[in-house]
Amino acid sequence: MASEVSIAPIQERDAAAIAALLQPIIAAGIYTAMTKPATPANQRGFIQSLHERAIYLGAWSAAPRLVLGIQEVLPTPDPSVGEIGTFVRLDAHRRGVGRALFRETCAAARHHGFTALRATIRRTNPVAPSFYASLGFVAQDGDDDPRVVVLKRRIV
Ligand SMILES: CC(C)(COP(=O)(O)OP(=O)(O)OC[C@H]1O[C@@H](n2cnc3c(N)ncnc32)[C@H](O)[C@@H]1OP(=O)(O)O)[C@@H](O)C(=O)NCCC(=O)NCCS
Repeated sequence: MASEVSIAPIQERDAAAIAALLQPIIAAGIYTAMTKPATPANQRGFIQSLHERAIYLGAWSAAPRLVLGIQEVLPTPDPSVGEIGTFVRLDAHRRGVGRALFRETCAAARHHGFTALRATIRRTNPVAPSFYASLGFVAQDGDDDPRVVVLKRRIV
């Protein structure tokens, strides 16, 4: 799979493709806390507002050129820790897209000075805990919000 996808930073021109990827995932109602519809305009706004230490990568198929998945790392109040999120097209799950994104994201996160990554996942999410566990993330105890599970891993 990894050889069939190319990973590159998300640009503003990708906003419509990302909205199309995200909207069915939001509508499914189990994967993410996002409830507001994803639109090209709000995705463009998100890209424009990214912090200088943020990482936002996309995975594209060659032909047709489609965005198969996206992964971001956003700074948290602890400068050493980045918050990671991953969204893969519902019809492209379990083909290694998330894992391919993570290889690049990890390298970029180290470059940006993060030493650990954290994933905050809704307890209703049936797939993300296994995904992050497969990448070496470990569930943390004692999150204040019972609706979520937090997983973390060091990257240095
Ligand atoms: C979670 C998600 C990003 C995983 O992406 P993906 O490209 O399907 O994952 P990969 O194919 O790279 O899987 C890597 C490993 O994760 C684990 N994994 C992924 N999906 C899994 C599933 N449905 N059940 C069990 N393990 C799973 C497996 O160990 C897998 O390796 P394997 O296929 O060799 O056994 C994807 O399912 C998704 O976008 N879900 C909807 C949005 C979401 O839940 N995002 C997380 C919130 S941050």
